[in-house]
Amino acid sequence: MTLQLVRIFSCAALCLITLLPDTEGGSVEMQQSTRSRPVTVYFLRHAEGTHNLAAKRRKPGESRESVFRDPSHFDAMLTDKGIEQSKNASTHMPAAVREALNGSSASRPLLVLTSTLSRTVETARHAMPALKSVTAIEHLREWGGAHVCDGRMRLSDFKAKYEGLFDGGFRVIGDDEEDPLGPSAPREKRADVERRCGKFLETLERLLDEKDAAGEDPVVVVVSHSAFLRHLFAYVGVFDPPSRGLKNCEWREANLSLPVTDAPPESPVSPIPLSRPSDNSGGPSSEPEDNPLPHGPHAKHYRVPLDTLLEMDITEPCSLLTLPPLSPASDEDTPARETPESTSCDSLSNAHSRLRGWMTRHEYLEAGSPRKAQESLKGSMGRQLKAVDATSCLSAVEGEDVANGIVPCAWEVVAKERVHRQTCVLLVLAGSPGAGVLEAGSEADREVECVREILRSTAGADEVYRVDVEIF
Ligand SMILES: *[C@@H]1O[C@H](CO)[C@@H](O)[C@H](O)[C@H]1NC(C)=O
Ligand SMILES: *[C@@H]1O[C@H](CO)[C@@H](O)[C@H](O)[C@H]1NC(C)=O
Ligand SMILES: *[C@@H]1O[C@H](CO)[C@@H](O)[C@H](O)[C@H]1NC(C)=O
Repeated sequence: MTLQLVRIFSCAALCLITLLPDTEGGSVEMQQSTRSRPVTVYFLRHAEGTHNLAAKRRKPGESRESVFRDPSHFDAMLTDKGIEQSKNASTHMPAAVREALNGSSASRPLLVLTSTLSRTVETARHAMPALKSVTAIEHLREWGGAHVCDGRMRLSDFKAKYEGLFDGGFRVIGDDEEDPLGPSAPREKRADVERRCGKFLETLERLLDEKDAAGEDPVVVVVSHSAFLRHLFAYVGVFDPPSRGLKNCEWREANLSLPVTDAPPESPVSPIPLSRPSDNSGGPSSEPEDNPLPHGPHAKHYRVPLDTLLEMDITEPCSLLTLPPLSPASDEDTPARETPESTSCDSLSNAHSRLRGWMTRHEYLEAGSPRKAQESLKGSMGRQLKAVDATSCLSAVEGEDVANGIVPCAWEVVAKERVHRQTCVLLVLAGSPGAGVLEAGSEADREVECVREILRSTAGADEVYRVDVEIF
């Protein structure tokens, strides 16, 4: 498996080097790189931070989002448990890292890369006690924007804080003194996080070239963050869905081949990934002439009877989200949330089970499906995504302090990784006998629009289609 990946990437590298546009400063160095370099990287996720603990301990109905936006978690530091975890990680470190740390003349040197957030440097210090030097790279930061816990101090302050702690030097690779990804910046798009993955790999390549020139072959350790590492693993093709995120302070070894230059192309805005089999074209219905018809305040808002929807094909990988979320299959009589008054529970749960059948036919798994079922659909969260367990990554938030403007409506995305990067289809089970669909401008309608906005801004979905499904 590994060998195969290396082959694919080295071929991609050979083909792409000559095609690299000479638009960025880094490309000159990239062009000098005429070989594909296999490198083993030991990844370590930072230990528990105050924001991780607060998210675990939050009150029922309090959103994770509000914890992450809480000013007290700025550049979240490690908890006591986090420090313990780091020390534990030091007793479980990979043999190659242990040998490099040992620092005998025969051992390879260590190249430890962290993000520019304090918790990764702290984790590195505690997990690798004899550590001499660290290089902090801005590109290794967590999915940025909006979250206070992922904000950083000014670069000069960050440098001043840590440079005295490492005899062998504390190097910072980043361009901006002020934080470009802090709480006042908008949430990064997935594509932006991916661009940073590419930039990080370029930086790694450059650092390894430097070491090469110095006659060194270092053991590489990367200390970063869960969401960023998920993206990075998908980017380099080593993402493993069943073992999704790294736990706090978990080590993972991966073999990469540098340079990785097959960055995913910018995705053009795709048409709604649903089509009716009766379409003779068979292709996606970009401008459907019959149902579903765009009918809302924007062009990506459709209305369709349930029976029609169930006849449609899903033409591209996308995330399907239902609102209200599908009630758990085992618990079908109790919908996850209060249903619109005029919709009887009967028809909603009936609609749920019919929808569930349709999704299953299209190889969609529900959130919370047994691990075995998920493993049987093993693919990559990234570019190769074929199916996702993405039917209910939204959760109702009760009692949220809306006055603080923390969460603008009573929903939040609880599983960002279930929202496909390109396209989300939000199925709004809106109909009811006699009552028709949501009134535009009604409170329920505003709530649905708010969920769309959350998907776009918080979950990083590139496009969100809204389909009001009439239930009869
Ligand atoms: C210590 O690390 C090992 C390996 O990662 C893990 O299995 C174990 O649960 C950890 N123990 C504690 C107390 O964190
Ligand atoms: C380094 O390795 C040698 C040989 O395995 C061992 O005797 C020594 O205690 C190690 N030093 C440290 C600091 O771990
Ligand atoms: C990486 O490559 C090394 C050397 O070929 C191998 O021993 C190791 O098992 C590989 N690790 C992974 C995670 O594939």
